[in-house]
Amino acid sequence: MDEKQLKNDFDANILGVFNTPSIWLDKGKGATVWDINGKRYLDFIAGIAVCGTGHCHPNVTGPLCEQAKQLIHCSNLYGIPKEVELAKRLCNISGFDKAFFSNSGAEANETAIKLARKWAHVHGKKHFEVITAKNSFHGRTLVTVTATGQPKYQKGFGPRPAGFHHVPYNDVEALKETVCDRTAAVMLELIQGEGGIIPASQEYVNCARDICNDTGTLLIFDEVQTGMGRTGKFFAFEHFGIRPDIITLAKALGSGFPIGATLATDDVARVFSPGDHGSTFGGNPLACTAALATLDVIKDEGLVENSAKMGAYLSDAMRLLAASEESYDCIESIRGKGLLVGVSFTRPFASSFKDACAEKGLLVGSIGEFVMRLVPPLMISKEQIDEAVDTIKDVCRIMTQH
Ligand SMILES: Cc1ncc(COP(=O)(O)O)c(C=O)c1O
Repeated sequence: MDEKQLKNDFDANILGVFNTPSIWLDKGKGATVWDINGKRYLDFIAGIAVCGTGHCHPNVTGPLCEQAKQLIHCSNLYGIPKEVELAKRLCNISGFDKAFFSNSGAEANETAIKLARKWAHVHGKKHFEVITAKNSFHGRTLVTVTATGQPKYQKGFGPRPAGFHHVPYNDVEALKETVCDRTAAVMLELIQGEGGIIPASQEYVNCARDICNDTGTLLIFDEVQTGMGRTGKFFAFEHFGIRPDIITLAKALGSGFPIGATLATDDVARVFSPGDHGSTFGGNPLACTAALATLDVIKDEGLVENSAKMGAYLSDAMRLLAASEESYDCIESIRGKGLLVGVSFTRPFASSFKDACAEKGLLVGSIGEFVMRLVPPLMISKEQIDEAVDTIKDVCRIMTQH
C-alpha cells in the first residue's frame, strides 16, 4: 500500500482533529500488532486501554462473527436477549441494580449526568450542578467536555452547558467547600487517566462519599478507563472499599467493539421512565455479544488477577530502571495501579520518546510532554514486559544522547 498516498487521502478526507498518522495498522493478535508494511509492534497502548483481552481473541471474534450472521441490529423497539444477559452479568459483578447501554464513554457519562439531574428533579430538589475534578477527562460531547476539567478541550466551544464546577483533585477541603444545596452529583475518576495517571487518595474518596451522604448528593465514578480489570481489580472502586451511586464503563467492555454502560442503584435508576433516555445503537446484539465474550475471557483467563500481578511486575521493573544508571535520570516517578501505569519524565519529551519506542517496535502512549502511558492488554506476559522495558531502556539512552 502506498503510505504517502494514504496520508494525502487522510488529510484530504478526514476532519482535521487528528494528526496525520505515521503508523498504519493492518492486523493484531494478542499483544502484537503489525503495520501495513508487515512491521511488528508490541502493543503497550492497546487502543488506549481498550483491548483488554488482547487483539482479536478467538473467543471474542468467534461469537461476534456468529452473531453478525444471525442479527446485527434491531433497535430497542424489540427485546434483545443478550442485552438482558449482559445487564444481569454486569449487575452481578458490580453489585449495581440496573444497566443502560450506549456506544462510548462520553455517552455513558452523559447518561450518568442526566440520571443525576433527573434524580434531583424527581426528589423535588433544585440541585442540578455537577462537580468534577480539575485535570479530569470525561469525554468530548458538549456536556462531557464541560464536565472535563481541562480548559484545552473546551476552548472555542462556548457557550457551554450550565452547572459544572471543577475542584482541585485530591483536595478534601475544596470539595467540602464546593458541594452545596445546588449540587446534584460529584463525578470523579479514581485514577485520572488522560490527566496523567494520577490516583485518588483514600482520604479523598472517603471524604467524597461522606460529603455526598451528608448533602443528599449522588457520587458517580467514571470507570471508563479504570474498569474491566485494568487496575488489578474488576472495578477501581474496589480498591477503596467505597461504593458510588453510579459508575460508567466503556473502553475495554467490548474488547474494541464500541459499547458504553451506565450502572446505577435501584434507588437512582427508578427515576428514569420510558422515553427519558435512549440510543439507537446502544446495547445492540453485536455490542452485547462482544461484551459478554469479553466477560467470559476475563473470567476464564484470570485477567483481573493477571492485571494485578503483571501490573506490579511492570511497575517494579520500571522503578528499577528509573533507579538505575541506564535511565540517565530521565524518569522521575512511576504511578498508577495494575496495568494502568504512568511514567513521568524529568524533561518534556514524552511524544518524541513515544515515537522512538515505535521506531523500535513498541507502541506506548504519551500524555502531554511529561508522561508516558503504559496500558498493555491484560493478558500481557512477563516476557513481553521484559521486552518492553528493554526497549524503554534503549530509548532512554537514545533520548538522552548517551
Ligand atoms: C475516564 C474517561 N472517561 C470518558 C472517556 C471518553 O470515552 P469515549 O472516548 O469512549 O467517549 C475517556 C476516554 O479516554 C476516559 O478516559
